[in-house]
Amino acid sequence: MSEHAARTLPPSDAAIAEAVSLLEHGKLVALPTETVYGLAGDATADRAVAAIFAAKDRPQFNPLIAHYTGAEAARRDVTLDERAMELGRRFWPGPLTLVLPRRADCRVSLLASAGLDSQAVRVPRHEVAQRLLAAFGRPLVAPSANRSGRVSPTQAQHVAEELGDRVALILDGGPCAIGIESTVVALLGREPLLLRPGAVTEEEIEAVIGPLDHAGEDGRPRGPGMLASHYAPDLPLRLDATELRAGEALLAFGPRPLAGAVLSMNLSAAGDLDEAAAQLFAALRRLDRDGRGQGLIGIAVMPVPERGLGRAINDRLRRAAAPRPDA
Ligand code: TXA
Ligand code: MG
Repeated sequence: MSEHAARTLPPSDAAIAEAVSLLEHGKLVALPTETVYGLAGDATADRAVAAIFAAKDRPQFNPLIAHYTGAEAARRDVTLDERAMELGRRFWPGPLTLVLPRRADCRVSLLASAGLDSQAVRVPRHEVAQRLLAAFGRPLVAPSANRSGRVSPTQAQHVAEELGDRVALILDGGPCAIGIESTVVALLGREPLLLRPGAVTEEEIEAVIGPLDHAGEDGRPRGPGMLASHYAPDLPLRLDATELRAGEALLAFGPRPLAGAVLSMNLSAAGDLDEAAAQLFAALRRLDRDGRGQGLIGIAVMPVPERGLGRAINDRLRRAAAPRPDA
């Protein structure tokens, strides 16, 4: 691998055209979505999909989401039942991913679904993602544009730091408005199954299709890629901190941050969960980098309420704090 840095461009029509040309040649392009930046490749090309796994050091058993311009386009590759259609009408374009049966003639590479007979599909809302999908004319698989197990990128600069020249081009659409990944729901059996809490809350989904089962609870299988440790900065995290210990940076939430921090970021001084989600990954990155620079030894995290978007935030924080596999 050469040592050139990634090329970053504002999303002009010329940049989109160049991205399409790169994708047609099996290359990878980072694109902004409303949730996080994705590392996109041609979903129908085994070579491009394999390159995504390699660029992220992602285990092959962890399947990828295919992105479409709309439900009608997705229908070409997966079967949408009535529940899927209703959820699509309510939340697409937007931060909801549905795991659905692959059609027999599904064009998406089997590498993307890790050999499963299901395929995750999503219709992103971000204008740049929509323009790229429309110009490319085929689905794009796009996992979050970070190294496997690390903090997800919410700015073009984060992608450059994570992937360097492993990505041919980064389309810079500014900071991601939502900042936390899509909610993943499997609609494969009778009971809809929540595989990953995310930007659309459980309550919002249940209002449309009724009660959700939860992966990983009561002996139900976890999603294939739901590893205990994920989103991990280098410094260890200590959750639900009610006091600050020596050598710790502070990730605060709410109007009364713990006193005495030499380095701190507040997810939302107003205690607003939307704002906290949008800040989360950038704040973790900043505290990790500056904390290590200042010789700190950990990050204390104040409690975040377990309601609405707070569940997705706490899911990411718990994984970021989980014991790491051996490096
Ligand atoms: O917001 C998002 O969803 C972002 C943007 C870029 O779209 N993408 C994203 O992709 O977060 P990724 O690969 O980081 O996470 C996809 C999640 C993983 O937990 C994966 O295991 C799960 O979706 N998944 C994908 N295909 C699946 C399948 N066929 N069955 C079960 N889970 C699946
Ligand atoms: Mg990810």
